[in-house]
Amino acid sequence: MTYTDDRATRVREVRRRLAQEGPPRTRDQEGDFETVTVPEKYCDQLRDLMVSEGAEKVVEVGLAYASSALAIGEALATVNRPLPRHVIIDPFQDREYSNAGWDLLRSAGLDSIATLMLAPSSIALPRLLTEGFVADAAFVDGSHRFHEVFVDLYYLRKIVRPGGLIVIDDDWWPSVHTAGQYYERNLGWTVIPDAFSGETIGVGPHGKQGARCKAYRLPAPSFEPFFEDFRAF
Ligand SMILES: C[S@@+](CC[C@H](N)C(=O)[O-])C[C@H]1O[C@@H](n2cnc3c(N)ncnc32)[C@H](O)[C@@H]1O
Repeated sequence: MTYTDDRATRVREVRRRLAQEGPPRTRDQEGDFETVTVPEKYCDQLRDLMVSEGAEKVVEVGLAYASSALAIGEALATVNRPLPRHVIIDPFQDREYSNAGWDLLRSAGLDSIATLMLAPSSIALPRLLTEGFVADAAFVDGSHRFHEVFVDLYYLRKIVRPGGLIVIDDDWWPSVHTAGQYYERNLGWTVIPDAFSGETIGVGPHGKQGARCKAYRLPAPSFEPFFEDFRAF
């Protein structure tokens, strides 16, 4: 077994235990883990997508119980590029989640490639941009308020390289969906059709049918549209 296989296997074991037994601690709310975390089958699809991208650098918004972060970490271990980096942003990981997600990442050995920024994404993302950080892909599962998702996507468009990938969770919520629509209609983002296929179509909030996760491909080269060309979304 190679070092890479070893690392990916260790992450997979932590993922399996988390899915079966839940995290070591949760917030004091009934069913919090099940409500908050990304279910295993979607995490598997997220991992497969990151692997097929050959991702080396990933930004993630929203750590909570780390199901998605572990899936991204498994992808980075599997791809095994020279300088893997996983920047995770969550202002509430210590205060609200007692570091449950970060401790899981550490037990999977992923803290060697991951950085946790304990700040709102609207503060952390411009910081990353100023530092010149360039990512291959991003995963957004943070505040879910329209204006905050919109701002996340605004900065991620400048951080993720042209032709890279931005995946959003909970697209079945109108607030999240509408934020993505602007970029889809005005900035040339295209939906990757089969990234989250099959069973992932389900019944979302308010009984609406829809896909939970959506993967966007950014245009290459990137461009700025004329304001006169604005398309309502
Ligand atoms: C639905 S949970 C993420 C679940 C996680 N992907 C998982 O699989 O366990 C949303 C997370 O976003 C975080 N969050 C809320 N507002 C945020 C903000 N402004 N910036 C970054 N993260 C935020 C919350 O603390 C919470 O951990």
